[in-house]
Amino acid sequence: MVSDYLVRTNPDKIFLLCDAETKKYCLPRISDIPFSHLLEMPAGESAKTLETCERIWNELTEHGATRRSVLFCLGGGSLTDLGGFVASVYQRGITVVYIPTTLLCMVDAGIGGKNGINLGGLKNYIGTFRMPDAIFIDPNFLLTLSDEEWTNGKAEVIKHALLSGNGWNDIEGKGFPKKDDIPSWTRIIEANTLFKQKITTADFAENNIRAMLNFGHTAAHALETLYLNNGKILAHGRAVAAGMIIETMAAEALQICENGLSHTVKKIVLPLFERVDYTEKDIAELNIIAAKDKKSVSGSVVCSLISAIGKPCEPVSIPEPIMTKAWLQYLHDTL
Ligand SMILES: NC(=O)c1ccc[n+]([C@@H]2O[C@H](COP(=O)([O-])OP(=O)(O)OC[C@H]3O[C@@H](n4cnc5c(N)ncnc54)[C@H](O)[C@@H]3O)[C@@H](O)[C@H]2O)c1
Repeated sequence: MVSDYLVRTNPDKIFLLCDAETKKYCLPRISDIPFSHLLEMPAGESAKTLETCERIWNELTEHGATRRSVLFCLGGGSLTDLGGFVASVYQRGITVVYIPTTLLCMVDAGIGGKNGINLGGLKNYIGTFRMPDAIFIDPNFLLTLSDEEWTNGKAEVIKHALLSGNGWNDIEGKGFPKKDDIPSWTRIIEANTLFKQKITTADFAENNIRAMLNFGHTAAHALETLYLNNGKILAHGRAVAAGMIIETMAAEALQICENGLSHTVKKIVLPLFERVDYTEKDIAELNIIAAKDKKSVSGSVVCSLISAIGKPCEPVSIPEPIMTKAWLQYLHDTL
């Protein structure tokens, strides 16, 4: 309970960060946070900027936030990524508590202490590793989520199932539960949270096994950056869905996994996620962006792949011709 947490920690001031959607849909559901000041930021990925952070730091200062204050973050991954970063450096770090309100944030973004903002078109280029001091998850928040945001969250659930093997048979056999089946979603969220927590606790600073969680993400971040460079936003979940197919195609070309694994991934992903649009002409730019990714080594594209369902591999350097082939294959095989 949030109220017990507040009694135990006794902060001098309570700040609550929300966006217009979470203010409208989620704030009315929480009555036990006696916040002294409500901070509001724009919703979504485009708000993950230094400018938004500066505005919040200024508001915290104006309203007397000290090192004994707490910042509650009520929202999805964009809001917790930014709120976590804001809190981690404000006066060298104040207490931060997450109340995730999207599926993606409950199963992934809110867990593990990676936070950050975008630098121009570069995804999550500025940030810190800093665990939230507490996380309160209530799956009932999901009832107001749009279909598109539900689907986005499913991408990370699929990723965890591909990495761990757990839950894959259910997804392949039955698909996902209906939106309002909160008991089933509660079980899925619990299993996914525990999986991510186990990996990130074992390797907080991503020196070894945590890197597996980047499966699909090198390609996904390149696609999201390509969109940002063109003034558009590509939803993270949709990008990860495409990224898992593209990187599995690269794994097949490198004979890291058996031929046919990308087809298995495609069979689950394509009915759920709209195909990501790019053209053959964009591929050179995608390779350049992917080589600038935080995970790249000496300018070469690095991906965390799987050799089979439930079998993650160490990060692999992908030669440019193989990456180009995978980008092309996705374009042709998903038509
Ligand atoms: N830190 C990590 O480890 C990590 C992992 C995965 C993704 N991410 C980041 O997460 C971000 C994506 O997060 P997201 O998918 O949660 O989207 P989001 O935070 O951008 O939210 C999407 C939209 O849903 C609205 N919304 C949130 N909760 C709602 C609710 N309960 N009802 C109605 N509307 C609601 C928001 O206001 C917003 O308009 C990306 O920036 C991505 O980079 C971070």
